[in-house]
Amino acid sequence: MNAQANYDVLVIGSGAAGLTLALHLASQHRVALLSKQRLQDGSTWFAQGGIAAVLDEMDSVESHIADTLDAGAGLCHPASVRFTVEESTAAIRWLIDQGVDFTREEEGYHLTKEGGHSHRRIIHSADATGHAVHSKLIVKVLNSPNIDCFEHHVAIDLIRQPDPDKGRFRCAGAYVLNKNTDEVELIQSKAVVLATGGASKAYLYTSNPDGASGDGIAMAWRAGCRVANMEFNQFHPTCLYHPKAKALLVTEALRGEGALLKLPDGSRFMDRFDKRGELAPRDIVARAIDHEMKRLGADCLYLDISHKDPAFVRNHFPTVYNNCLQYGIDITREPIPVVPAAHYTCGGIVVDRHGRTDLDQLYAIGETTFTGLHGANRLASNSLLECLVYARSTALHIDEHLGMVHAPRATPDWDASRVTDSDEDVVISHNWDELRRFMWDYVGIVRTRKRLLRAEHRVRLLQKEIREFYANYRISNDLVELRNLSLVSELIIRSALERRESRGLHYSLDYPKLRELAMDTILVPENFAGQRQFI
Ligand code: FAD
Ligand code: SIN
Repeated sequence: MNAQANYDVLVIGSGAAGLTLALHLASQHRVALLSKQRLQDGSTWFAQGGIAAVLDEMDSVESHIADTLDAGAGLCHPASVRFTVEESTAAIRWLIDQGVDFTREEEGYHLTKEGGHSHRRIIHSADATGHAVHSKLIVKVLNSPNIDCFEHHVAIDLIRQPDPDKGRFRCAGAYVLNKNTDEVELIQSKAVVLATGGASKAYLYTSNPDGASGDGIAMAWRAGCRVANMEFNQFHPTCLYHPKAKALLVTEALRGEGALLKLPDGSRFMDRFDKRGELAPRDIVARAIDHEMKRLGADCLYLDISHKDPAFVRNHFPTVYNNCLQYGIDITREPIPVVPAAHYTCGGIVVDRHGRTDLDQLYAIGETTFTGLHGANRLASNSLLECLVYARSTALHIDEHLGMVHAPRATPDWDASRVTDSDEDVVISHNWDELRRFMWDYVGIVRTRKRLLRAEHRVRLLQKEIREFYANYRISNDLVELRNLSLVSELIIRSALERRESRGLHYSLDYPKLRELAMDTILVPENFAGQRQFI
């Protein structure tokens, strides 16, 4: 890429959402696709359980909708839920057409079950569904002549410029750090799509790979877009607990196939919390585990599938089996030590059905968004589905409207004339550690107002230091992520403080009751693009 480049569409993010959208556009438009690491390094690659869709004759759209609404604890937007579920079969068909191999049994595709689902409706590729989907889509993208892929390119900020035709601001591209050269480049485009994934790296313990630092949410907020429901951080109930294991998920599909949650003395406990037992929605299971760990002073609890046929376990769960074996745990013979960890960002950039944000020509898709689908708690395996469905509807909208959009006006280059090289990078890593620890301690599964206020105070102090660092030193990937994570953490804390009730994933000891009226928490930036006219 030259220091300046022009495209029809700039897609920031190479997960399920970004790749799907790029493929839907590639026959008509020139697309630049960015990934801040390699193409395969987002959450999508690591997805295990599968994709929820209505694929069985005994299942129905109404049932999938009802389960999604129930898990969402009164906050899902019914129209978004219906739209997503109605599109689910077509989304899976599209993946099969791309060559994705889902696990089959004699009668057809094997469908598994996960928490909160009243039917078997999770199509999967053993327990490595993300790998199966992502690797096929990556090959397709690499073979598309109209898509230029830029690995190790980190978007820093969006370009917002006046649109004389409309009298409003529009998005016109992004400044991008090329990690191969350490130079900041400018990519201009008629439309920009944020497909940057979630923000679970805000927490010390997470199932997410590096890079889940909420960059898209932070960039959109700085560009004047609203964000919603940021207090709903989903903690996955079962991540492997081992001193040397980092971010290893133990898929919920194990519980779908009969695995049991147990206390250190081997007794079961989930029935005390929900009649659905191990298959209650994720917020309930994670909170129950957290409660029992605190009550017993235990470092972890256990997930046990050793009563099942070892061949079945190895065939259905090769990833979990091998991951655990690497740490000396044979899951066919012994229970798995597990703890909850931050897993999914239910809130995000406010978008409509076509992925449109508040800023003209800026779209967003995938985990970075708030579409209204997940409400206060995402139903298992609805995330990849949302990526696929909204990527397609957004691509259709862009395709239909791009012909009427002018090319952006010239934009100044990134100005690095007043910054120097930092000799104190340790400050970045210390701030990063501090942020993630206090988010875990004060803004975790169970919250109090006092803890949230303490976190708010700490995040503001950190932000002051980060601002000074950002103004004076040369930009780096770690600095970009820290700046974004501190902003996203602030938005999480502010949203959590606004919600004076306990609902779904947000549980407050000060406000344990559910309010009668279910309301989204919508934060509006000072430079709100939906109202600001430049004339
Ligand atoms: P991601 O796949 O996270 O991709 C984000 C992309 O954005 C990456 O390419 C990254 O490099 C890029 N990016 C980010 N910031 C920048 C920047 N500043 N500049 C340039 N590029 C940037 N969901 C399910 O439905 N079913 C499952 O079975 C399932 N299992 C999961 C298991 C694990 C371990 C995890 C972590 C998640 C799982 N999820 C599952 C959730 C699901 O995988 C994610 O929500 C989904 O993959 C998100 O896709 P995405 O395209 O939005 O983002
Ligand atoms: C899992 O496999 O347990 C993760 C599924 C999801 O996050 O939807």
